[in-house]
Amino acid sequence: MKLDQVIQERRSIRGFTDQPVPRALLEEVIALANRAPSSMNTQPWHLHVLTGEPLERVRRGNTERMLEGVPPSREIGDYSAYEGEHRKRQVEIAVQLFEAMGIERHDAERRQDWVMRGFRQFDAPVSIVVCFDRVLLDNPIAHFDTGAMTYGLVLSAWSRGLGAVINGQGIMQSPVVREVAGIPEDQVILTCVALGWPDDDFVANSVVSRRRPVSNTARFLGFDE
Ligand SMILES: Cc1cc2nc3c(=O)[nH]c(=O)nc-3n(C[C@H](O)[C@H](O)[C@H](O)COP(=O)(O)O)c2cc1C
Repeated sequence: MKLDQVIQERRSIRGFTDQPVPRALLEEVIALANRAPSSMNTQPWHLHVLTGEPLERVRRGNTERMLEGVPPSREIGDYSAYEGEHRKRQVEIAVQLFEAMGIERHDAERRQDWVMRGFRQFDAPVSIVVCFDRVLLDNPIAHFDTGAMTYGLVLSAWSRGLGAVINGQGIMQSPVVREVAGIPEDQVILTCVALGWPDDDFVANSVVSRRRPVSNTARFLGFDE
């Protein structure tokens, strides 16, 4: 697949087949993601790749704690709810997904189902827990670097026919993830990536989120016009 096509066609995948993902393929994808640029080539990221029993334990722990009302517990700094333009875009993608799934605005039960699905990491056969070195916790560049690697990860997965969704929901109860995955104390959990073979019959997988045009994201200075 050409790079342009991979970038253009990639979208978040939230429904997967049961087909397992071979470890060798994941290693190939991670090797490519590791080619990401990072500040001074520091490469601050660490990946913990879960499947089978450990992943089921994470799903169970995450879901049970959310249902019990345990407040979300993340390891990076808290951020407040999105407002203004950011909130509008957040609502827009939620509306697109709910429309595709046929979930009505007032259908509290199905909305809750969808949220719980997120806490189960969309029942993906693989979850990659994305961490970075704790010593860089207060250095925003480490977040940037790890994000760049994560985008490379989902792109190289996509080019091999794998689907993925980067998701905060799966690590919302980070203590569970830390314990089950045995994350070393000198690493901080940033996010996770649910990954597997896309289920073509899962309608939300066909949702294409909208983007701002170049004229709204970039300014050009010093060009001949
Ligand atoms: C840091 C980050 C966290 C995300 N967390 C979630 C999540 O918890 N649940 C979810 O369904 N999607 C999550 N997403 C996916 C975004 O909703 C998605 O990337 C965005 O709507 C654009 O859609 P696209 O990926 O299909 O282009 C997350 C994406 C990023 C980059």
